[in-house]
Amino acid sequence: MTSYRVPAERDPARPGADRPLTVVVDGEPVTGTAGQTIAGVLLGAGRREWRTTTGGAPRGVYCGIGVCFDCLVEVNGLRDVRACLRRAQDGDVVTRQGPEATA
Ligand code: FES
Repeated sequence: MTSYRVPAERDPARPGADRPLTVVVDGEPVTGTAGQTIAGVLLGAGRREWRTTTGGAPRGVYCGIGVCFDCLVEVNGLRDVRACLRRAQDGDVVTRQGPEATA
């Protein structure tokens, strides 16, 4: 196997880097790029937690692969969406979830 450098414009891991999007998170616009998950947009904006457990502990991304459910968030009125799996769409409205959603 040979390592090589891929120019950003040809990097398949950045398919939407040239297409910005905006989601509204708790009423605040947050920008990302097409292809990012909701969690990716939130982390890119410096947010590390967006859910609270019944015990009041903050939660965000833990596994990042859809297994732990720590990243649950409300998207466009739909609760319990795993932010690490849901691809962000321009105009999405994201709301943090409290303990009532995890019971
Ligand atoms: S971070 Fe584990 S399911 Fe999303």
